[in-house]
Amino acid sequence: MIVNTDFTAMTGVKLPVIMAPMFLVSNVPMMEAAIANGVMGVFPSLNFREEKKLEEVLTHLSAYRRSKADSQGSYGVNLIVQQTNIWYEKHLELCVHHRVPFYITSLGNPSTVIKKAHSYGAKVFCDVTNLEHAQKAMQKGCDGFIAVGQGAGGHAGPYPLTVLVPALKKKFPDIPVVAAGGIASGAGIISSLASGASAASIGTRFIATFEAKVSEEYKKAVVNAGMNDIVLTERISGTPCTIINTPYVQKIGLKQNKIERWLSRNPRTKRYFKMLVQKRGLTLLEKAVMPGNYQNLWCAGQSVELVDDIVSCKDVIRRLETEMQTACEDLYKQIILS
Ligand SMILES: Cc1cc2nc3c(=O)[nH]c(=O)nc-3n(C[C@H](O)[C@H](O)[C@H](O)COP(=O)(O)O)c2cc1C
Repeated sequence: MIVNTDFTAMTGVKLPVIMAPMFLVSNVPMMEAAIANGVMGVFPSLNFREEKKLEEVLTHLSAYRRSKADSQGSYGVNLIVQQTNIWYEKHLELCVHHRVPFYITSLGNPSTVIKKAHSYGAKVFCDVTNLEHAQKAMQKGCDGFIAVGQGAGGHAGPYPLTVLVPALKKKFPDIPVVAAGGIASGAGIISSLASGASAASIGTRFIATFEAKVSEEYKKAVVNAGMNDIVLTERISGTPCTIINTPYVQKIGLKQNKIERWLSRNPRTKRYFKMLVQKRGLTLLEKAVMPGNYQNLWCAGQSVELVDDIVSCKDVIRRLETEMQTACEDLYKQIILS
């Protein structure tokens, strides 16, 4: 199957798929599987905070990609470009030094990443959940948007992809859009392409894989959960985040209390309070993905409904490819072009 979209042309990958960056989940074996199977694997730089680790990973992935050039896969780094991310500058410097070919930026101002990435021909896509975010990213010179829609794993957007993607294409016709949120099948990818996207970014489906570095309990929870088990919580980072509704989540509640809300809005305290909340949230999440932890805080999107098994990343990608083909054939049976 040959797929030609703006995204595949711009990045050189075979399939219009991003294995989405996932805090605490994405790891080197997943990136290798993405590269070896023709998709774009992206990981958050924050998954490698130990001294020298990120450098080691970047050196390895660059060599691995060269050794698998025929597979037409690639890799990229997700940078949280927010003042509260104390690793941001150091991580960006390392990525530029290792000539990372692709970036996804989340939150904050992507200008510096775009300028440095463009100095050696890398591409930068920015997470956007509405047209205002997109306008700002476009003015900074981004190469594309990651349209994060309703029900996505992590910080989901407020709008359905069937509205957000065409709205972005209407307003910014020349900028490639990647659809993110609720896509876990080849039919989902084809449906995004039909809406105007040039690729799909898939997170939740890849949690339930052999390679993901999270506990078996978490992977099984993704398989067993349905879309009605996904709730939005402010208790992790302060920003609403999708999570599987476990007894522990019910115990700690979904909303910030009055004092926390006041501290996060007050101009004098907001920056420090947000940093504190994020640090606390990261520690909680980090514990929760480890085996045997009773604090079951498992981040996942509504597409858990479509995940029925734990398999290898390679199998997920192969299935997506076959399903894309079947979805196209089924469409042709229903629509006769004259
Ligand atoms: C467990 C988990 C962790 C995530 N961590 C990040 C992250 O660190 N940075 C980021 O930009 N997006 C993050 N996301 C969002 C994904 O990159 C992607 O936008 C989302 O998973 C797409 O929706 P889907 O889960 O329905 O496929 C995360 C998603 C999940 C499920």
